[in-house]
Amino acid sequence: MDRGILVTIEGIDGAGKTTQSKAVVRWLKKNGYAAKYTSEPTSVGAGKLLGKPGFTASPALEALLFAADRMEHVRRVIEPGLKKGYVIVSDRYVHSSIAYQGTMLGDMDWVRTINKFVPKPDVAFLLDVEPRVALSRIKRPKSRFEKLELLEAVRNAYLDMVASGELILLDGTKSPSQVTEELLAKLKPFLPNPKCKGP
Ligand SMILES: Nc1ncnc2c1ncn2[C@@H]1O[C@H](COP(=O)(O)OP(=O)(O)OP(=O)(O)O)[C@@H](O)[C@H]1O
Ligand SMILES: [Mg+2]
Repeated sequence: MDRGILVTIEGIDGAGKTTQSKAVVRWLKKNGYAAKYTSEPTSVGAGKLLGKPGFTASPALEALLFAADRMEHVRRVIEPGLKKGYVIVSDRYVHSSIAYQGTMLGDMDWVRTINKFVPKPDVAFLLDVEPRVALSRIKRPKSRFEKLELLEAVRNAYLDMVASGELILLDGTKSPSQVTEELLAKLKPFLPNPKCKGP
């Protein structure tokens, strides 16, 4: 059985990550791929703690908890899926930690170090949207990360990772279906051959 691939979708809060990750998984399934949507933080263990409304921790502890949650995410979901040949689409992954916790701590290298034991994505996308636009899309109560100044800095950290070739840039300001089209065009070269659906 060929190993699957890990695709990650990154971007600031409200950029459209969940919308696009789910749309890509729908397209993959329709086109004969074994595909799975997954997201971070997860809803178990450290991830459950991080997702609790009102949860606070120092930026360093928060970075450790995100890294711990990711290790469990890899062990429980990502690695078993890759072994079975799935295209795993993760709504946030390592680059979220580098962009958010790295920015808040002012130490990207340490955040990279504590995340060095998880597999690198085969392909990682940045859905780029201006913070003002992204925040205006969020209708629910805003989380502790959803402040204009922080998101400006996080966006710049993400754009640096586009410049270094770690992330592939997508224009997140277009309509959802146009964004999906751009994403699929850029994803297709990385996809394995779809499973034969039979005659
Ligand atoms: N390309 C788009 N243009 C306009 N609105 C969009 C677009 N993509 C998503 N939206 C809308 O913006 C809101 C946020 O989208 P979504 O939940 O996909 O973003 P997200 O990046 O997953 O946000 P979060 O960081 O909060 O999880 C939703 O109401 C969604 O319907
Ligand atoms: Mg989301």
